[in-house]
Amino acid sequence: MNPHEASTYSQLKLDEQIKLIQRVYSSHVNKMTWTDTEYVVLDIGCATGDVTKDILLPLCPDSVSEIIAIDILPEMINFAENHYPHQKIRYKTGDIKDRALVLKQKSKFQKTFSSFSLNMIFDHQLVLQNVNYLLSPGGEFSFIIVATGPQYKAYEELARSTTWEPYMKDWKNFITPMHYWQEIETEYKTLASKCGFAINDISVESLTFGFPGPSKFKSFLNTISPFVSKIPDDKTGFIEDTYRLCLKHGAYQNPDGSIQLPLKILSALATKFMDLSDRVSF
Ligand SMILES: C[S@@+](CC[C@H](N)C(=O)[O-])C[C@H]1O[C@@H](n2cnc3c(N)ncnc32)[C@H](O)[C@@H]1O
Repeated sequence: MNPHEASTYSQLKLDEQIKLIQRVYSSHVNKMTWTDTEYVVLDIGCATGDVTKDILLPLCPDSVSEIIAIDILPEMINFAENHYPHQKIRYKTGDIKDRALVLKQKSKFQKTFSSFSLNMIFDHQLVLQNVNYLLSPGGEFSFIIVATGPQYKAYEELARSTTWEPYMKDWKNFITPMHYWQEIETEYKTLASKCGFAINDISVESLTFGFPGPSKFKSFLNTISPFVSKIPDDKTGFIEDTYRLCLKHGAYQNPDGSIQLPLKILSALATKFMDLSDRVSF
């Protein structure tokens, strides 16, 4: 994610994305166990805070006393605090991969949510272990991930090019492991089980994000790319190459000029059935 693009990302939010988050979170919240006890909820990768405040919070029952919304980028947290404040939401800078942060918050949360953020992390075993540690026994985790899409193949090709290779040496750390999996649902269930989670609900669905034309699509690529901030000086060439390779690998332009980006989206609801804290060396 490009840290300088918080307001652009906020404005570029797609209808398809909002509807999907609304539908999946709503279904998962209804399937979760809620009682009258107080709940503290974690939102991982909140970015500008709009989803946390406008979608997640209204779906939560009154027994939710607080949502802690974290993002790895301080710029996003700053934007969220200024544009999407609420007395029940606390925005904090934090990296879900950070074991030290996790240790400080052990068993603090009963529910965890994450939308369109964990696809920026390759090591899902680490993510699931850390979420296991953060959740209290029986805690539940609802997440939505872009599992596959033309942009990952574009990144792969950019990382092999002589022009962009110097800025993308660690590119594999910033994409989803599902880019390499054949049976996404089965492999995710196996991984989750090793990390102490039973998957109650899982689906991989095809969804196409639509853009009115190349310029909006390029702006979108600019905001979601984990690599743009590493490119020195003018980033136009990098975005143009990403755009061209996305079209080569499955995105397409309609006769009216609009662009379609076909994606596979993984959504799942997992319940913590085993406490990993004794087994994982922290
Ligand atoms: C595409 S945005 C999604 C924001 C929001 N959840 C939504 O659905 O619109 C992904 C966010 O995840 C954040 N992120 C990426 N890696 C992260 C990590 N390791 N820990 C916490 N946040 C992370 C990025 O900084 C970015 O703001």
